[in-house]
Amino acid sequence: MSVFLDTLEGRKVSRRPLWIMRQAGRYLPQYKATRAKAGNFLALCGNPTLAAEVTCQPVELLGVDAAILFSDILLVPQAMGFELKFGEGEGPSFPVTLDPSKPRWAGDRTFAQGFMPESVSSKLPHVYEAIRLCRARLGATPLIGFAGSPWTLFAYLAQGRHEEGFPRAKQLLWQEPAFSKDVLEVLTDAVIEHLSAQARAGVQCVQVFDSWGGLLDRADFRQWSAPYLSRVAMALEELGVPVIMYCKGGEGAFEDLLPNPARCLGVDWTVDMGRARSKAGPRRILMGNVDPLVLTMDEGTARRKLRECLQAHGREGGHILNLGHGITPEASPELVKKFVLWAREEGERLMQNSQGA
Ligand code: CP3
Repeated sequence: MSVFLDTLEGRKVSRRPLWIMRQAGRYLPQYKATRAKAGNFLALCGNPTLAAEVTCQPVELLGVDAAILFSDILLVPQAMGFELKFGEGEGPSFPVTLDPSKPRWAGDRTFAQGFMPESVSSKLPHVYEAIRLCRARLGATPLIGFAGSPWTLFAYLAQGRHEEGFPRAKQLLWQEPAFSKDVLEVLTDAVIEHLSAQARAGVQCVQVFDSWGGLLDRADFRQWSAPYLSRVAMALEELGVPVIMYCKGGEGAFEDLLPNPARCLGVDWTVDMGRARSKAGPRRILMGNVDPLVLTMDEGTARRKLRECLQAHGREGGHILNLGHGITPEASPELVKKFVLWAREEGERLMQNSQGA
């Protein structure tokens, strides 16, 4: 077994497991080299051999305790028929956005009422093949699969691209609630299908990224994000797949997610880890929550911030160390490597003290 999976199963472990959100990415020169081989980002996502290679790089180069599949949350809407573009140096964009005046909602007839979730997994065989290749290469190191949350995918599909505050997404929620609910239900089915297919292919845990949960006020979050997150987590936990529910939404979202069926909650760095632990109770697994920018700073600062996170959580088990959001392209790979070693040392010390106490 692994220290990561043991923690998720509630077993006693000798130290804190650590992995890093967005650990396969542009701060690693080896990632950039493999992406250049593939040609571009989407080609890398579509090439199982190269996607498996970048998935395994952080494990092999840095010694993290789990791999996360290299892929993207936006492949699901793409598989549903939305054209997806990744311009060089730009973020992702959808040229055709959600349109409530069209009975089929968007340009492509695959995305409409009567939508079959199986059609999403049938379009993503390369993702599941990458998973099989990763498992063969990773040995005992576990592999995490993932998907975007229904609300986060909705935000991109409504707006077409990242735009401050995602005003068109909110306009649809507030002015076209019946339409928005239909779309969110369909996205939820698609996300469940994709995560279940990842589990069938071999991922041992899944994470849901509600990256834009923090845009919503509390009532909107409880209406337009949390219920769909519950449905996703319930479906996967019922299959026996451990779920990490990550919302970048501060303390309000964290509290609203306490009833979510996921066994593990991701905590962003704006939330106090000690308060999160006392609100969640001793049995819930928590993941997080060092500020990602510490990995762009000096060693002393990075080590101090790591220790502060461990101390804020306290000595109890049930903690998976991670950043509070994705690592930035400016992070230093040498510092990340040291961070992984310090996490082992500090984590072991903490657990020994707790057994002695
Ligand atoms: O964590 C990992 O290492 C696994 C891979 C992963 C990627 N995207 C690869 C990627 C994961 C888990 C994601 C999730 C994702 N994708 C999210 C949620 C993430 C979070 O932290 O909240 C979102 C919002 C997306 C959509 C997306 N993909 C955006 C907005 C961008 C552009 C922003 C950017 O960082 O450039 C991407 C591109 C992307 N996805 C990259 C990577 C490594 C960078 C692309 C490149 O190589 O040029």
